[in-house]
Amino acid sequence: MNKIVIITGASRGIGAATALTLASQGYKVCVNYRINKSAANQVVDTIIQQGGQAFAHQADVSQEHEVSELFLAVDRQFGCITHLVNNVGILFPQSKLIDMDAKRINKILTTNVTSYFLCCKEAIKRMQAGSAIVNVSSGAARSGSANEYIDYAASKGAVETLTKGLSIELAAQGIRVNCVRPGFIHTDIHRDGGEPNRVARLTPHIPMQRGGTAEEVAKAIAWLLSADASYTTGTFVDVTGGK
Ligand SMILES: NC(=O)c1ccc[n+]([C@@H]2O[C@H](COP(=O)([O-])OP(=O)(O)OC[C@H]3O[C@@H](n4cnc5c(N)ncnc54)[C@H](OP(=O)(O)O)[C@@H]3O)[C@@H](O)[C@H]2O)c1
Repeated sequence: MNKIVIITGASRGIGAATALTLASQGYKVCVNYRINKSAANQVVDTIIQQGGQAFAHQADVSQEHEVSELFLAVDRQFGCITHLVNNVGILFPQSKLIDMDAKRINKILTTNVTSYFLCCKEAIKRMQAGSAIVNVSSGAARSGSANEYIDYAASKGAVETLTKGLSIELAAQGIRVNCVRPGFIHTDIHRDGGEPNRVARLTPHIPMQRGGTAEEVAKAIAWLLSADASYTTGTFVDVTGGK
């Protein structure tokens, strides 16, 4: 199979690590990003230097027309995609629910949930038997993230329900849909939550006594996308150090 993948939010963090991992496994990679063009180009340059194929495409994937353009760009560059990693995720500064407004909540939901629906829709118009989707949830879907960001945690709950339902809708067509749940991973996202050193603070509560790396999450995503996971669909893989 000619493997062609879109990874949303691949300029940094888990998405960037996934782009590098999949490129090393022979995937042609579309590195989606929202604003950070130089970081996205750096991921693409690294892939090309290592002999792979990749290009960067700017799109805010919470916007339907931008998602359409993203998929059309990949059609033109590589052909129909065979694999999708819905990885985009944002959070806002830690806050109790009583202090959240509709603007914040809706931004979280459109970015973290609507984008996953829109990208799945465009992907399955093109996918055939043997294709696969991985959605990136969070341990927050299980914990609820009280006093920090219930809005974010709830968005990840929705991602998990989408994964379950869509996996069943597509199972007979041979298209698999799975999910990874990262725990506390060293990336920039914690800075956006107002606590860059959050992973260090929470390390004593992690059974393995350390935060995870983006590469460790990327490897779980790569396995779920691969033919090695050919009988696995509607499944959730925790990458949480035992938490
Ligand atoms: N890190 C953790 O501890 C952790 C734990 C559990 C789950 N997760 C999940 O893992 C995923 C990746 O998180 P991360 O920590 O790697 O995040 P990150 O380092 O903050 O990177 C976020 C990425 O998403 C992109 N992005 C944000 N909004 C976008 C939009 N509307 N359209 C397109 N791209 C957009 C950013 O692009 P720009 O560079 O252009 O801004 C960036 O590439 C998220 O779904 C997150 O919820 C992370």
